[in-house]
Amino acid sequence: MSDGDIPVRVKQMRHEADTVLSVEFETLDGSPMPAVAPGAHVDVILTPDLRRSYSLTRALPGDDTTCTVAIHRDPASKGGSSHVHEKLRVGDRIRLSRPKNNFPLHDGPEKSVLIAGGIGITPILAMIRSLTEAGRDWHLHYAARKRSAAAFLAEIEDCADRSGGKGAVTTHFDDEAGGALIDIAGILAAESEAHFYCCGPEPMLAAYEAAARDVPKDRVHVEYFSATEEAAREGGFDVVLNRSGKTLHVEPGKTILDVLIANKVMVPFSCTEGTCGTCETVVIEGRPDHRDAILSDEERQKSETMMVCCSGSKSAKLVLDL
Ligand code: FES
Repeated sequence: MSDGDIPVRVKQMRHEADTVLSVEFETLDGSPMPAVAPGAHVDVILTPDLRRSYSLTRALPGDDTTCTVAIHRDPASKGGSSHVHEKLRVGDRIRLSRPKNNFPLHDGPEKSVLIAGGIGITPILAMIRSLTEAGRDWHLHYAARKRSAAAFLAEIEDCADRSGGKGAVTTHFDDEAGGALIDIAGILAAESEAHFYCCGPEPMLAAYEAAARDVPKDRVHVEYFSATEEAAREGGFDVVLNRSGKTLHVEPGKTILDVLIANKVMVPFSCTEGTCGTCETVVIEGRPDHRDAILSDEERQKSETMMVCCSGSKSAKLVLDL
């Protein structure tokens, strides 16, 4: 738990598709949620030991006392989604982290082409709501195994209807397409000047990255749910905690986060695999070995921050703002 956590109550839970529940939270004291742009997520702190990141279904303007996430019941759940589906109930009081956005929309006038697979629709829904309100051009390609597994179809169609012709939706259901998968390369090839956004399961993201190889990087946006690289466990370097002056040695087989926790150094974390950004820490000195799925090439180059849950060090010493 950290000082910025927000105490909330579960206001409403709704069945959105075969395995998807939406959960609306309201702040306990009626104060507004912090403002955040579409594409953001919060960490839902289900128990002291169970914390998971989930995308918000809409941007928060700064005067809203509620926010909503959507949670797919993952058959391979390590505890988060099964806890929500089986134990969390309306009226329960828990805490949320402050929202964080690793998947923002671009500001320019270019069209947004959005590709969502399954529960990957959640941050994309927030984006098309905002694009519709701003009168900007968008085209959503939404894929799911079957129609009944696709959450928020009515809201999405409503956005397209309200867009005055500026928004369009193309759905792809694998079972209705004879098992064929969505043609991501074809979608990218059909649009020359657009910004592209993709969120979905790993095979979809891999196909997207392959298809986007020749598209300028600043027009290719992606949100990962799982690690893209192995965590750095090579060890053999020191971490200096700048605030206390303490030096900790990272042994082979350990991550920096393992060593911080073992030494009772408080660092917020959630996914532990470089996808949520919760453990982002300022680097004062040294060369991190970045293994996360969040920092851009330019940010990795600058190395002003690093994700301590999964990244290591290329230098013998790393000085961190801890
Ligand atoms: S805990 Fe999620 S990026 Fe480190």
